[in-house]
Parts: sequence; structure tokens; C-alpha cells
Amino acid sequence: MPEAGKPAQRLAAIPREIAAVADYERFSRASLDDNAWAYLHSAAADELSWRWNREAYDRLRILPRVLRDVTAGHTRCSLPGLELAHPILLAPVAWQKLFHPDGERASAYAAAALDTGLVLSTLSSYTLEEVAAVGAGPRWFQLYLQPDRGVSRALVERAERAGYSGIVFTIDAPLNGVRNREHRAGFQLPPGVDSANLRGAPAPVRPALGEHDSAVFQGLMREAPTWRDVEWLSGITRLPVILKGVLHPEDARIAADLGAAGLIVSNHGGRTLDTLPPALEMLPAMADAVGDRVALLLDGGIRRGSDVFKAIALGARAVLVGRGYIHALAAAGPLGVAHVIRLLRDELEVAMALAGCATLADIGPQALLAAPR
Ligand code: FNR
Ligand code: LAC
Repeated sequence: MPEAGKPAQRLAAIPREIAAVADYERFSRASLDDNAWAYLHSAAADELSWRWNREAYDRLRILPRVLRDVTAGHTRCSLPGLELAHPILLAPVAWQKLFHPDGERASAYAAAALDTGLVLSTLSSYTLEEVAAVGAGPRWFQLYLQPDRGVSRALVERAERAGYSGIVFTIDAPLNGVRNREHRAGFQLPPGVDSANLRGAPAPVRPALGEHDSAVFQGLMREAPTWRDVEWLSGITRLPVILKGVLHPEDARIAADLGAAGLIVSNHGGRTLDTLPPALEMLPAMADAVGDRVALLLDGGIRRGSDVFKAIALGARAVLVGRGYIHALAAAGPLGVAHVIRLLRDELEVAMALAGCATLADIGPQALLAAPR
């Protein structure tokens, strides 16, 4: 951990000890103060969903086919508004200046260099235009609905103008989960880190709560999105709308009926309601619910190319990685982020080749052996 007032230690080259995505976690600790570390590592309450996210991959086994010709193999992947060289995207993570002075610009730089889809958070610490100015790259914009619809609409219009090709509407976090790790550390945004996209937005007008009102139901949840906002959003943008944070097959059906182009099956990295199931466990039922009508993506706990393989086997078209690339951003800046993408992509190719799958379409449930319960 850096001492107060001392510059953070960052790697100028990648040491041999960093051979896998998870190796970055230890190195990132040395680059972050307790405040940023608590925010990055926070999951809700007892952090069970966070742990289960990892364990879900570990429980599945890959069942390989041998002696197949995979010499025409590739990892190309088609998503609403994006044609990608591989199915691994960078998840929206707020306030990346907490982790590196170049924040989201560093992540975008690495993503563009490796032709990797980037999802930029509404709560980014550089503006969406500043991030777009890093260079052309495949990108979606993640929307947190703002209390004032005009502000939300302006964000969507700015994203369209700046070349983002999809709107990821995050709907599972109208309020924070009970993040005890953050509470214990007293997390707060330090000076110099703010929600750059929202500068100058009018302060929300919030009616005073009555004596018998709840700060949850009559407070924050009054500003929470509903299905009507999904319809509203689809009506104001020409871009595909992807809903992030869906776990229930019935919600997947409603979303498909409302014209959502994609769904990110996710428990928000275990940061909202603890004991939600891992996205991986819900995928088969989600795929049954929507078939090919909607592109399914998944996030939560991705650390290995074989994790990507398993998600695709169970019905995901692509995956997003969150903390995995942020550890690398903190430890080694854009070089680290690029390295993480490269590692995941290489490991995915190795898994495909050794399992006898030439393309993502060849990876199906038959490539897995469900572990004994
Ligand atoms: C997030 N996540 C998130 N999601 C979102 O839609 N908008 C946001 O601004 C953020 N911010 C954010 C900050 C931090 C520090 C974390 C760790 C996560 C959730 C994120 O997009 C993704 O769902 C999870 O991080 C995926 O789990 P893993 O890969 O971190 O295990
Ligand atoms: C988080 C919010 C910003 O998970 O999505 O911290």
C-alpha cells in the first residue's frame, strides 16, 4: 500500500511472476491506498455471491473432443452494434482515476489497441468524449438512469455523437448493496475524482421524506428505473439497448418482448444483493427463455480463458471482465490492461483448440461435463 503523499508503485514492465490474470491482484494492492482498495474489492454483505461467482466456473469440467481439424479456427464474435475479434469485453467500472491517473483513458487505449469491446460507465472519471478521443475502438456506453430524464437523454445523445454503438442500461443497482467492506474502510471519493459526465447536471430535486417514509422505498427507489424506462430509452435512441443485471428468465422474456437487443446476465460482481446466484448458473435457463432473439452476455468472476469457454458453452455470446482488468490497470496501467486481454484471449484459444472447437459456435453444452453435485 502506498504511504500517504508517496506516489503509487507501478510496473513499467510485466515481470515473469505475472503469468495469469489473477496474478495482478497482489501487485495492484501495492498501487492502491486503502480507500480505493476497499471500493474495488467491495462486494455486498458477507460477499457470498462474489465467492460463488468464482466457484461456479470451478465446478464445471470441460469434456474435450480430439483429432479434429481446427486450423480454420477463430474467435470472431458478433454483438448488437459490434463486430469483435474475440468475445471478451471490458465491463463498466466507475471512477477509474481511483486506480490510475489516466483512468478510463488508459483502459480505452488498451482496448482499442487490442480491438476489444469497452463499456464505459456513466460514472467515469473522464468524460465519454475524452475517452472516445483516445482513438477509434469498439465501444458501448453504460447508462445509469438519472433522476432527471433530460440528463439521461443528453447522455445518450452525447454517446451517439461520440461514436458509441450501443447503450448498456444497468438496471440492477438502483441503490448500493450493503457493502460492509466499504463501510468499514469509510470509503469516499477523494478530491480530483468525480463523475465527469455529470458535471453541470442540475442537482436532483428530491422531495423531503415524510415522518413515516422509508429512505429506500419512498427515497432512492422513487428514482429507480422500471420497464417503462426501458421502453422510453428504446424510443429515444437509434442504438441497440442492452440490459445489464438480469438474472430471472421471466425478466429475460419481458426484455426480449420489449425489443432489448442484448442482456448481460450478471449479479454485478456480487456488489448488490448478497446471495444472488452466479450469472453462470442462470445462463441455461436464460438461453431457454430467449433463444436467439437476444444476445446473451455474462459477467462475474471471469479470470481465465477457460471461464470464457464455459460461459459460451452455456449460452453466452460474449463475456465481460471487471475487477480482473482493473487490478492490471492499477498495477501497470494500459500495458497491464492490454496484457490481461491478451492472456484471456490466448487462454480461450488454447481451451478451444484442446477441446476441439474451431469457432465459438462449436462451443456448446456438449463441451462440458457437469460435475457431480
Ligand atoms: C462495477 N460495476 C459497474 N457496473 C455498471 O454497470 N456500472 C458501473 O459504474 C459499475 N461500477 C463498478 C465499479 C467497480 C469497482 C466494480 C468492481 C464493478 C459492475 C461491473 O460492470 C461488473 O458487473 C462486475 O465487476 C463483474 O464482476 P467481476 O469481473 O468484477 O468479478
Ligand atoms: C458499483 C456501482 C458504481 O458497483 O455500479 O460500485
